[in-house]
Amino acid sequence: MTFYDEVGGQTTFQRIVDVFYREVSLDPVLKPMYPEEDLGPAADRLTMFLVQYWGGPTTYSERRGHPRLRMRHVPFRVDPDSRDRWLRCMRTALDEVELSPLHDATLWDYLERAAYAMVNTLPSAAASPGGRPTLDARSTSEDSTETA
Ligand code: HEM
Repeated sequence: MTFYDEVGGQTTFQRIVDVFYREVSLDPVLKPMYPEEDLGPAADRLTMFLVQYWGGPTTYSERRGHPRLRMRHVPFRVDPDSRDRWLRCMRTALDEVELSPLHDATLWDYLERAAYAMVNTLPSAAASPGGRPTLDARSTSEDSTETA
């Protein structure tokens, strides 16, 4: 029995993603990031991905190929703020679906790690604590006029 089966299969993942995108549609930072006005297709892709990841049908890869999630997120500005907003929407979704505590913790742990790994943009160097940009902040900063 896979995790997918244990939590209730397709229906459960669909419910999680439905609540998640309901929350995304209300978020002033996340909503404009989505290329399509209709969030339905994005919801389908996320559902298929999660279903496949947790041991359900592999429809995601049949339709979309290898997930390569970090690469697919490169066009979007995933910074700590959007990551936290994304996670807040997911937290609301998991709370509404009410999995068992163990299933909830397992899924949440994965989602948190995945969301942290998806960050591809750091806050601007000027905003970093102490004003001292790290190497990473420097290389992704839009402000390249800094001299010292
Ligand atoms: C950390 C904050 C994140 C933000 C702001 C974000 C935002 C986005 C955006 C704007 C899209 C494009 C919509 C679409 O065409 O589907 C997208 C796609 C997608 N995201 Fe995220 N995402 C985040 C994290 C994650 C995480 C943690 C996962 C997986 C656990 C994930 C899974 C996906 C998937 C599967 C797609 C569709 C990929 C495809 O097949 O084209 N995202 N995301």
